[in-house]
Amino acid sequence: MKALITFMPEGKSAQVRPGTTVLLAAAKARVHIRTRCGGNAACLMCKIKAAPGSALSPPQAGELRKLGALRHEGYRLACQARVAGDSVVSVPEDPLRAAVRRQLEKNRERQDMVRPDPEGEDL
Ligand code: FES
Repeated sequence: MKALITFMPEGKSAQVRPGTTVLLAAAKARVHIRTRCGGNAACLMCKIKAAPGSALSPPQAGELRKLGALRHEGYRLACQARVAGDSVVSVPEDPLRAAVRRQLEKNRERQDMVRPDPEGEDL
């Protein structure tokens, strides 16, 4: 029997066998989760958060050690957490992409502030 795992905010999902790591499930769902260590719990780049009611394997000692204080914020490592049943996880936005997005939003706001009022142009 397979489990359905859904990745937010994209809403993409995949059916996987229980025991599959969240990282592999993400690849199957064509969701990009950053990794630099190849899934060895060394880079801390694959952090995810599971929604309440999700069925992931309990974290093992190595994952807890690696997460440190982040575990209290609900983070898991996608390369270590295994799908145990239907689950919904959220993938944090890539920090570089988030910085670019924020800068673009600021630029748009500035442009909106200097753009003349179309109703006032005829005055
Ligand atoms: S992939 Fe590096 S810690 Fe998970």
